[in-house]
Amino acid sequence: MDRPSGLRFDEIGYWSEIKLDIVREYATAYSTILSAPGQHRFHHIYIDAFAGAGVHVSKATGGFVLGSPLNALNINPPFREYHFIDLDRRKVAALRDAIGTRPNAYVYSGDCNSILQEQVFPRARYEDFHRALCLFDPYGLHLQWKIIETAGRMKSVDMLLNFPVGDMNRNVLWRNPEGVDAADIARMDAFWGDRSWRDIAYRTNGNLFGYPEKEDNETVAEAFRQRLKTVSGFERVARPMPMRNSRGSTVYYLFFASQKSVAEHIIEPQKCAIRSKLNLQNASRAHLSALLEGGRRGSDDKITESQQGLASGSVSRRTRRRAGSDTPWATSSDTGSSI
Ligand SMILES: C[S@@+](CC[C@H](N)C(=O)[O-])C[C@H]1O[C@@H](n2cnc3c(N)ncnc32)[C@H](O)[C@@H]1O
Repeated sequence: MDRPSGLRFDEIGYWSEIKLDIVREYATAYSTILSAPGQHRFHHIYIDAFAGAGVHVSKATGGFVLGSPLNALNINPPFREYHFIDLDRRKVAALRDAIGTRPNAYVYSGDCNSILQEQVFPRARYEDFHRALCLFDPYGLHLQWKIIETAGRMKSVDMLLNFPVGDMNRNVLWRNPEGVDAADIARMDAFWGDRSWRDIAYRTNGNLFGYPEKEDNETVAEAFRQRLKTVSGFERVARPMPMRNSRGSTVYYLFFASQKSVAEHIIEPQKCAIRSKLNLQNASRAHLSALLEGGRRGSDDKITESQQGLASGSVSRRTRRRAGSDTPWATSSDTGSSI
């Protein structure tokens, strides 16, 4: 595969491959609903704000995997237009090459935090009957709250958001917050929209001495979910999906936030599809742990085999049932969940 000189395609773990599947399924359902015969007045748009190069390399198989922009372009029925943004000029060049000529696909090089406001969101105005599905999939704390807030207030934008809890934990939410770099605190403030995360992420009433104790990931993610609803104005915000690596650590949460009109149609079928993906992810964790606990550690081939087995659906029903039982999506009766 041709690539601009110096560009190394990102290597992605199987959890990112699952995310790509989920995004593709959600976007397909969205586009199907907005292309239905009764919906002709709507012009629906796909926006990928952290688009990447369009192609990745799978850590599990070593093969190429299509990234979210190319998946979106392959969706049927198609979106009416596509907007892809990336900060890395080499990735933008690779993406342009991969897309070729597609008159309704626009690729931008630069920071999505300004390109969205200035060039893309004006294409998605509610009063023009334009509707947009926006994917925010950064590596870390690179998205600014002003964008999330604008998207929520526009009432025409649904979003899938990667909530980068890994970056937060590594660089900001330390057990001892004293030594955290001011620049990382500023990144967190810009993502969250203010400093209120600090009171959520640390409690001081749990010990006699009043020093701050760190809360768990779920507490921080749930506070952000409430913020999406009450501050940015998304009507439906599902409980987020924890995306875990092979050691079971949550790498990030995937949020789904939408406006009622589209969400109501997308809910049921997606609930099933996404639930089964999540079960698959948890099943793969259970399967990997079983392999490691069984003393058969050390063979990457075995892990790859197990992942491939999972990808082709060969996990036992018992494993799947057990793995699915601790998932909020599988068991939730959470009202307000859009998925
Ligand atoms: C996780 S990758 C995206 C993967 C892609 N969504 C996919 O699934 O195929 C994150 C991308 O965000 C880009 N990026 C980082 N900061 C950015 C910014 N401020 N604006 C736009 N893109 C940015 C990086 O260059 C990288 O390609």
